[in-house]
Amino acid sequence: MAGHSKKYNVIDLETGKLDPRIFSDNDIYQEELEKIFGRSWLMIGHESLVPKVNDFFHTYMGEDPVILTRDSKGTLRAFLNMCRHRGARIVHTDIGNAKNFFCAYHGWTYSNEGKLEYVPGAEEAYYGALDRECLGLVEARVNTYAGIVFGNWDAGAPSLEDYLGDARWCLDVAFNRLDSGTEAIGPMKWIEPLNWKTAVDNCSDNYHVPTTHLASILAQGRQFGIPRTTHEQQFQSPNKHLFINGHSLTMRFLERPDQARQMHGVTQDNRAMFEEYYRATQSEAERRLGVVRASQLQLGNHSLFPNGVLGLRLAHPRGPLETEFWHFVVVEKDMPNELKRALRMGSGNYNGVTGLFEQDDMDNWRSVTRSSRTPVARKYSQDLSMGIGRAGSDLDFPGVVSERYTSENNQRNFYRRWQEFMNAKDWREIPIEPITAEFGGTAEMNG
Ligand code: FES
Ligand SMILES: [Fe+2]
Repeated sequence: MAGHSKKYNVIDLETGKLDPRIFSDNDIYQEELEKIFGRSWLMIGHESLVPKVNDFFHTYMGEDPVILTRDSKGTLRAFLNMCRHRGARIVHTDIGNAKNFFCAYHGWTYSNEGKLEYVPGAEEAYYGALDRECLGLVEARVNTYAGIVFGNWDAGAPSLEDYLGDARWCLDVAFNRLDSGTEAIGPMKWIEPLNWKTAVDNCSDNYHVPTTHLASILAQGRQFGIPRTTHEQQFQSPNKHLFINGHSLTMRFLERPDQARQMHGVTQDNRAMFEEYYRATQSEAERRLGVVRASQLQLGNHSLFPNGVLGLRLAHPRGPLETEFWHFVVVEKDMPNELKRALRMGSGNYNGVTGLFEQDDMDNWRSVTRSSRTPVARKYSQDLSMGIGRAGSDLDFPGVVSERYTSENNQRNFYRRWQEFMNAKDWREIPIEPITAEFGGTAEMNG
């Protein structure tokens, strides 16, 4: 792995060869927790999960348990869920409303602004010598984009706005369309025996769809009248496959401005209702996003570096060989309830333990992870050579755009980005692209 002067040299960008040991080696995994999950802006939730003052939602950043709370003054905060006395977990529930966090081991009590407010025996047992000021909860930086909450442990990291960069030009199409914003339904949670990177990589893999998902596609066609996806279609597709500032995205062209944007949950029975909704909200979307983004484009599969997958899905690493997924359905707040329900049901049919497409994918990711650990198999590189030299800039889209919708350019770049983080001493050695996209509307990071 250490071929050049840098420690990690796992992807050869000229040949597309990838060292599979990054999917199973425990030392590498431990280093990822520090150098990737300890430095990146990580999706940790959505504002709608903590709507009221004192609400909290329990989440994770990498393997570290985190309390996301809206404090008594209404400010979003993220704290490591660890008592500063002897390290016990303080919060043991998924969600709640509390002004204070009380440690059930010895009773130290913190405000929801993170201050250590009460210590039993502060005068008697500690003789007044305990420095309470220095023993507040460990706090992460928090910022939001279109209601989605991100956390970051690293004071040296750039702002969330710079971290997302021009990827926001694409994300706005799905998450920042209307003034009233979005809400998150969920999460569905499940654990899969696979390395977290296999799922992230797969978000840009348009190549597998007609093969892996054939049975599901046929069932979907029969049930909902959705035309079958074929390899030929994918190879000829005008849709875009883009790598933008570390993030992997796909964008699809709409056939009509009122076409339903969602992939899952739209059926013959409700399609007219979705179209009516998109007609009714079109002028507002054009004001916010400009005509091109509001009426011609839809966000396809995508991942935000490192482990944000498919909209709002958290892929929490649980060791090199296990990932815990938390899948949310994000819907526009003022969408009719009937459509919200259709999207929620549709998501359950496709994603998670009940999801047809998820089950197809899971088998692949699991077997890719498995073969990275057996002694003969792990000596052989993976081949990610598809479309080498066939990507560049595009007048109409930001980032590095693949010539075809089916390409491994995003995947090669994902592992290059992974390597940039793993080889850097700190954020000063991690490149970040300037924001250059023309947003062409009034939508900003928040509102
Ligand atoms: S570990 Fe929390 S009060 Fe002792
Ligand atoms: Fe898939």
